[in-house]
Amino acid sequence: MKILVVGGGGREHALVWALTRERDVTVLCTPGNPGIAALAPCASVPVTDPDALASLAEREAVDLTVIGPELPLSLGVADTFTERGLRVFGPTRAAAALEWSKAFAKDFMARHRVPTAGFRICHSAGEALAVLSSGELGYPIVLKADGLAAGKGVVIAETRAIADQAVHDLMVARRFGESGDTLVLEEFLVGDEASYFVVADGADFVRLSSAQDHKRIFDGDRGPNTGGMGAFAPSPLLTSQMEQRVVDEIVVPVLQGMVDEGRPFRGFLYVGLMMTSHGPKVVEFNVRFGDPEAQVILPMLAEPLSTLLLDATSGQLSSRAARFSTDKFVGVVLASGGYPDSADNGKVITGLANAAAVPDALVFHAGTAESDSHVVTHGGRVLTVVGRGTTYEQAIEVAYRAAGRIRFEHMQLRTDIGRKALTAVSQSPV
Ligand code: AMP
Ligand code: GLY
Repeated sequence: MKILVVGGGGREHALVWALTRERDVTVLCTPGNPGIAALAPCASVPVTDPDALASLAEREAVDLTVIGPELPLSLGVADTFTERGLRVFGPTRAAAALEWSKAFAKDFMARHRVPTAGFRICHSAGEALAVLSSGELGYPIVLKADGLAAGKGVVIAETRAIADQAVHDLMVARRFGESGDTLVLEEFLVGDEASYFVVADGADFVRLSSAQDHKRIFDGDRGPNTGGMGAFAPSPLLTSQMEQRVVDEIVVPVLQGMVDEGRPFRGFLYVGLMMTSHGPKVVEFNVRFGDPEAQVILPMLAEPLSTLLLDATSGQLSSRAARFSTDKFVGVVLASGGYPDSADNGKVITGLANAAAVPDALVFHAGTAESDSHVVTHGGRVLTVVGRGTTYEQAIEVAYRAAGRIRFEHMQLRTDIGRKALTAVSQSPV
């Protein structure tokens, strides 16, 4: 079977890595990255050109295409493939609205009684300012641009003055362009964040795993938000009892609701959660695998990924839990100087092979490029180094031992990835 993976980040490297370990599967990727190129041929079709991607799949006689990032999904790549009779894993544009429109996602959750933060949707600055002056959502208050904003369209405002300023930035100065034409104002949720992943085919779904990301750039969850500086899986916050609640109160009604509204969801569903004192509440949905969550979850999978993906595209998926290793996985992101505002590109990376030689370690590429036969930095998040262990301590030790062998100028990394798992374990009742 021939599978095309669309994308070129750490998540896609992990997808390609998992698929190339299977017998009888050959993989092609576009646009890929140097780490992926070591495992599979890479084409140069951009992820934003649905017709060119479909033509690539036809030309290469691909049996299944897996879409990694949200942008092509929001552009309707899955629809184009289906119209052209090609098998694709990833939601339609209509189903991907769960991620590309936060207003759709919130209204949808309200319609289907899925637990989430209280909210108001505003279509003008005047409307937003009126909600702020009513004080109905309290402070701090969360302001979100409706559309895709690469994780940067969210402002947590402690005071009315900061919230007013954010309304101005998003709706008047249009800092994120048309993404800010509609604003979601949301009640601030207190709790620990975790995420939960399933592979869905309409109402049927296979449970993958939980994980926890580290979104802030600096240790101790300080500094600006990033795409994710590291992750671990599974999350000790999602005990089997809590996981069952997430499935019953969130996953089942969401997938059934999407079917009932004529937008059946087929793909990886990423449920971003806040574990509040009133139970798990949805912070956001993503319509694709997480990055760096994929890098710590896919190595746990103890059954062929290709079968799961194919079953989901052929209506043969039956609801169950996927088979998983009981080991723990911790992934540390190595980022460029300047990230998250900019990226210090072109810095030579050394020690990659040495790091990958650490037993139980994996090195996934994201923002890398090849230049004069060197691998160099090319983007904000450069690599994810994953460690595996029978305990979180072991997995952390392996990940940092391997990461310690990699060098590039101005490299940034957090030194506390995975520590939250240790405190959560010691605090949780047995
Ligand atoms: P989002 O893009 O919706 O995931 O938001 C980005 C980050 O902002 C989340 O990972 C949370 O840390 C934070 N956040 C979003 N919504 C809320 C909320 N209602 N209450 C508290 N924190 C939030
Ligand atoms: N790690 C967060 C995301 O993939 O959106």
